[in-house]
Amino acid sequence: MKKITIAIDGFSSTGKSTLAKQLAKHLGYVYVDTGAMYRAVTLFAMQNNCIGIEFLDKDKLVNSLASIKLNFKFNPELGFAEMYLNDVNVETEIRTLEVSSFVSTVAEISEVRSKLVEQQQEMGKEKGIVMDGRDIGTVVFPNAELKIFMTAGADTRAQRRFDELQAKGDNVSYEEVLKNVVERDYIDTHREDSPLIIAEDAIEIDNSYLDRKEQFDAVLELVNEVI
Ligand code: C5P
Repeated sequence: MKKITIAIDGFSSTGKSTLAKQLAKHLGYVYVDTGAMYRAVTLFAMQNNCIGIEFLDKDKLVNSLASIKLNFKFNPELGFAEMYLNDVNVETEIRTLEVSSFVSTVAEISEVRSKLVEQQQEMGKEKGIVMDGRDIGTVVFPNAELKIFMTAGADTRAQRRFDELQAKGDNVSYEEVLKNVVERDYIDTHREDSPLIIAEDAIEIDNSYLDRKEQFDAVLELVNEVI
């Protein structure tokens, strides 16, 4: 069976990572969460006073990019790879609402994008990969054999994200989460460099009313048509 590249793009909190992880596990492929990479750079920017409320020192961040090392390390207990920033596991820190509130601003910076895109292309050069993000089918792997674009209503997505954060013990309100989802969608779709758009050859899945199994089965059918 030939190995392919599967690109999964879409709006925030559409369940891209859950689906991508499931698919990668089933196919024996590598899974890469590119959102985690943008989140890790954002955490670095926060820790080094490059970004804060109403403030962004873009030059400082761009000049520090060479000192940012990003790695994924597979955690067999969890069954997926966790994000490391300069050899420190940051998997928990990068998922907070605070990081979410700055990440789209950091992801607008072209120098950040080119550094991460280069690393993503390197990770996927052997194929056999499921990568999720915003620009995978359009910029990172425009020749991916299968491209999925996931959407769902903002309310549905905010509720899912809110439930996740609550389960982790994060004390946030539904309104804050909804505001963040809507703001990120806006910045991600309006930025100049690599905006979130649906690739011409992507297959759109609106999962507002689909459960995880229905989504997985639908995408697996598409995979089987290609491999
Ligand atoms: O996927 P996740 O919600 O964790 O992504 C966080 C943010 O990172 C997105 O809202 C977007 O601003 C940015 N991102 C991006 N390109 C990607 C993946 C994520 O710009 N390929």
